[in-house]
Amino acid sequence: MARRIVMKLIDGKKVAKEVRGKIAEEVERMVQAGESRPHLAAVLVGTDGASRTYVKNKVLACEECGFRSTVVRLPEDISERDLLTEIDRLNHDDTVDGYIVQLPLPAHIDEQRVVEAIDYRKDVDGFHPMNVGRMSIGLPGIRPATPQGILMLLDYYGIETAGKHCVVLGRSNIVGRPVASLLLHKSFPGNCTVTVCHSATKGLKKITRLADIMIVAIGSPLFVTADMVKEGAVIIDVGITRVVNDSKPRGYELQGDVDFENVASKCSYITPVPGGVGPMTIASLMRNLLELRRLRKENKL
Ligand code: GUN
Repeated sequence: MARRIVMKLIDGKKVAKEVRGKIAEEVERMVQAGESRPHLAAVLVGTDGASRTYVKNKVLACEECGFRSTVVRLPEDISERDLLTEIDRLNHDDTVDGYIVQLPLPAHIDEQRVVEAIDYRKDVDGFHPMNVGRMSIGLPGIRPATPQGILMLLDYYGIETAGKHCVVLGRSNIVGRPVASLLLHKSFPGNCTVTVCHSATKGLKKITRLADIMIVAIGSPLFVTADMVKEGAVIIDVGITRVVNDSKPRGYELQGDVDFENVASKCSYITPVPGGVGPMTIASLMRNLLELRRLRKENKL
C-alpha cells in the first residue's frame, strides 16, 4: 500500500515573529548596557507600490525589534549621480549601522553600480560583491536576507538537508544563486547536492521530479504543477506576484510560483504565499542589522 504523505505547512509568519521577538530582547539588553539602538536606513526611489509596501513592512519590523529606522525617499527621476551622493552620505553617517537601497531602481540607473557603491560593512542586504564573495567561500559576513530566511525555516522545522538533492529554480543574484551557494556549504542547513535550473534548462520536469527539496524563485505565478513534484518533497516558494483580480478589495491577489492547491498534498513540507518566505526575508534582514553591529564592534568586517 502506498505510504500516505502528511503535509506540514511551513509557517513563516510565526517563525518570523519569534525571530523578531528574540531580536527585540537582545536589543533591550544592548540598550540597558549603554549601547545605542541599531539603526537601519532604507532608500526608496520613486513610488512603485510593491517597493513602498516592502519598505513599510521593513520599518514596521524595525519598530518591533526596537531598532531605529529612517526612510530616505527620493524622486523617480533622480540622477544616478545624485543617488550615488546619497549613498556616499549614508556610508559616512556613523549613526547608521546598515542600509538598503530598495530594488528595482528606475531603468536609467545602473543598479549594479549603486550596489557596489554601498559600503559592504553597511550592506545589510548582503548584495555587495565583497559579501557575495565572502559567502561563497564560507567566511563570516552578511548573507542575503531571503536565502538566509529560507535556511532559518529549514533549521526551525528540523528538515534534513545533508545529502539531499536540492533543485533551485531561478538564478537571480538575490535568491537563486546565493541559496544554491549556501546549501552547498558543508554545514547545517546545507551539504546538499544542488542543481540550479533556469529559463534555458532542458527537460525541466525530469529534474524537478528528482528534487528532495525544491526552491522556486522565478516570479512566474503557479509555474510549478503537481506533475513536476516528487512525492514527499519539501517545497519552498519564493515567488510573490501581484496578479490582477477585480474581485479582491485591492484589485489584485498575491500568487506564488507554485500551484499550492494541487501540489500541497504531495509534499512533506510546503510554504504558503503569502505567509511563507516573505516574512522571513524581513526577519532575516533584521538579524543582519544586529550582525553588522556585532561584526563592526568586534572588528571582523
Ligand atoms: N527588492 C526585492 N527584494 C529585495 C531585497 O531583498 N532587498 C532590496 N534592497 N530590494 C529588493
